[in-house]
Amino acid sequence: MNNHPLLHIVQNIKKLTEIADNYDTPCYIYSSERVQSNAMRLNDVLKKYFHKYHICYAIKANSNPHLMKIMKKTLPLIGGDCSSPGEIYAVKKAEIDPANCIYTGNYESITDLSLAIEEGCYLNLDDETSFDRLAQENLPTRISFRLNPGFGKGTFSQITTAGENAKFGIPAEKIIGAYRKAQNAGIQNFGIQCMAGSGVLTESYFPKLLTAILKTTNKIEEELKIQFDFISMGGGLGIPYSDDEKELNLDTVFFELSKVFYNQYKKNDSAPALWIEPGKYLIGDAGFILSKVIGLKDSYKNFIGLDAGMETLMRPALYGATHRIYKVGFHGDPIGTFDFTGPICENTDRIAVNRAFPAAKEGDLIAVMDTGAYGFAMSHNFNTRPRAAEILLEETSHRLIRRRETIEDIFSNCHV
Ligand SMILES: Cc1ncc(COP(=O)(O)O)c(C=O)c1O
Repeated sequence: MNNHPLLHIVQNIKKLTEIADNYDTPCYIYSSERVQSNAMRLNDVLKKYFHKYHICYAIKANSNPHLMKIMKKTLPLIGGDCSSPGEIYAVKKAEIDPANCIYTGNYESITDLSLAIEEGCYLNLDDETSFDRLAQENLPTRISFRLNPGFGKGTFSQITTAGENAKFGIPAEKIIGAYRKAQNAGIQNFGIQCMAGSGVLTESYFPKLLTAILKTTNKIEEELKIQFDFISMGGGLGIPYSDDEKELNLDTVFFELSKVFYNQYKKNDSAPALWIEPGKYLIGDAGFILSKVIGLKDSYKNFIGLDAGMETLMRPALYGATHRIYKVGFHGDPIGTFDFTGPICENTDRIAVNRAFPAAKEGDLIAVMDTGAYGFAMSHNFNTRPRAAEILLEETSHRLIRRRETIEDIFSNCHV
C-alpha cells in the first residue's frame, strides 16, 4: 500500500463498516476534501502561469450534481464541458452557469445543438458538416471547432481521441475551411478546442500538443484575421492508477505550457484565454468503490468474487484498465494472485486480473481505488442489476448523494 490520498479513509475499518451497514454495498464513496484540494491545486497553477484561463469540468467523468457543487463552491467561476443534454441538465442542477460551459458533441443532432445554444453554452463543433446542419436552423453568435492535430495520446488506444483512427475533430489541414465558412455566415466570435486523449502522465506531451494547436491557430489568425476568445486543450491530465505510476508535476506542465503560449501571444487581455477540460484530474482519485467479498473460488485460477462487477465498474472490462484494490483496514502481505470478479454473467467481468492480494474471506470489505471518474458514470444495468449508491464523506460525517437504484426503478418506464 502506498501513500494514496484516501489511504487514511480505507484504513478506517470502523467508519467503512458503518457506511456499509448504513447504505449497503457496493457503493461509491467520495471525499469532499479531495475534490476541493484537486480543484484548488489546478486553479492555483493556472493562476500562477496564465493571464486568462478557464476550467470546464468534464461532466462525463462524473455527473453527480452534489460533487459538482463542491467544485463550484471551491471555484465559483468553474464551467463544464458538456457532451449531451443530460450533462447540461446536470450542470444546471449544480448551479453552474451554462454560459460558462463548452458543449462538445459528436455527430450532434440539431435538437442537441439547439438546446446547447438556448442554454447559452459555447458551442464546439466536431465537424464542418455539423456547422452545415446547424446553419439550416439557427446559428449561435460564437463558435468553436474541434481540432484533430493528427496525433493523440492516452493510457489506452480506446481513450486516445485524436490521430488517424479517431472519430473526433477536424484534421489540421481542413479546419481553416470550417472557420472560413462560419466567418462567411457572419459569426464573429471564435474559439478552438482540441481533446487528444485521456490519462496522460508524460509532462512533455502537453507542450507538444499546445505547439501543434498554436500552429493551427496561427494559420487561421493570419489568413482569416480571426482573434480567438479561447484555446481549449481539452482534458487529458492523468492520475496514477498504480503504485509505480508517478503523479504529474502540474507546475512543470503549466510552466512549459505558458512558455509555448506566451511565445505566440502577449501576456495581456488581447491574448486568448487558455481553457482546460479536466475530468480525471478533478474527481478520479477522490472516489472509490466499497464492495464486499461474496465468495472465494479455487479453480484453474483463484477468484475473489465481489458484489461489484463490470456493471459497477466498466473500465477494466472495457479497456483493461488497472485499479488498485485494498483490503479495508489492515491490508497485509500478499498470499497469492487472484482475479477479482463480480456477479455478472460474462467472462469479461473482471475488476482486476492476476492481482497479488492478502488473505481474504467472505464478508471482508474491499476498496477499489481511483474510481471517481468514469466509474459510476459508466456503470450500467447489465443482468438487470440496479446501479450502486453514492456517498459523500465530509469531514467526519457522511451522507447519501444518490440512493441505490431499485429493480422497480429499472422497470419504471415499462408499463406492463
Ligand atoms: C471533449 C472532452 N473534454 C474533456 C474530457 C476529459 O478528459 P479527462 O478525464 O482525461 O480529463 C473528455 C474525455 O473524454 C472529452 O471527451
